[in-house]
Amino acid sequence: MARTQLLIGTTSAGKLLEWQSLIGDLPLELLTLHDVGIDFDVEETGDTFAQNALLKADAYGRASGLLTLTEDAGLQVAALNGGPGVHSARWEGSDYAHKNALLVRLVEGKEGAARACRYACVVVLRRPEDGKLWYARGEARGQIAHVPAGSGGFGYDPIFYVPRLGCTLAEVPIDEKDRISHRGRAAGRIRPILRQLIERRAA
Ligand code: IMP
Repeated sequence: MARTQLLIGTTSAGKLLEWQSLIGDLPLELLTLHDVGIDFDVEETGDTFAQNALLKADAYGRASGLLTLTEDAGLQVAALNGGPGVHSARWEGSDYAHKNALLVRLVEGKEGAARACRYACVVVLRRPEDGKLWYARGEARGQIAHVPAGSGGFGYDPIFYVPRLGCTLAEVPIDEKDRISHRGRAAGRIRPILRQLIERRAA
C-alpha cells in the first residue's frame, strides 16, 4: 500500500527538520516544496499566525494538489507588547546574531516576568479533495536569556530560555525541543487528524 503523501509547506530548513522529527514516525511520505517543484514564496500579509498559515496552506495545497501541512509561528515578547509576533522572520533583518543580541539588550536590567516571552505556532492541514482545513495551535513559554547560548535549533532559540530546563532551546537535543515547543504541542494536536486521514485513505 502506497504511503499517503504529505507536503510540508515551508521554506525554512529549521522547521522542516523539526516536522520530520515530529511526524516522521507516521506512515506518511513527507515531501518538501523542493520535491514537488514549488519554488515560490507566499507573501505573509495576514495579521495573525492563523491567517498566514492559511494563506500558505491554500497556495501550496492548490499548487501541489497534495495533502498539505503549513504553519506560521513567531516569538512574542512581553516587553515589546507581544512583538515581533507575526513579523518575527523579518523583524530587524535576517541576521539572528544581531536580532538576538538586540532582544537581549531590550530587556537589559529586567528580571523575571519582565523578561517573559513565548513562542506561538498555528498549524493548518489542508485536504486537497475538498479544501477542508484543520487548525492546531501550540505555545511555549520562556524568558529572554541574559546571553545567547547553544547552537541547536534555529532563529531565536539561543535566547529562548526555559527556566524549567535551566537552559535555552538551542542547548537541548531536537527531541527535547519537540516535547516542549510550540511546534511540538501543535503537532501533538494535529497527529490524531493525520492518523484518521491516513486510515481513511487505506480503507
Ligand atoms: P514564519 O512562520 O515563516 O513567519 O517564520 C516564523 C519566524 O519565527 C522564524 O523565521 C523565526 O524567526 C521565528 N520562529 C518560529 N519558530 C521558531 C523556533 O522554533 N525557533 C526559533 N525561531 C522560531
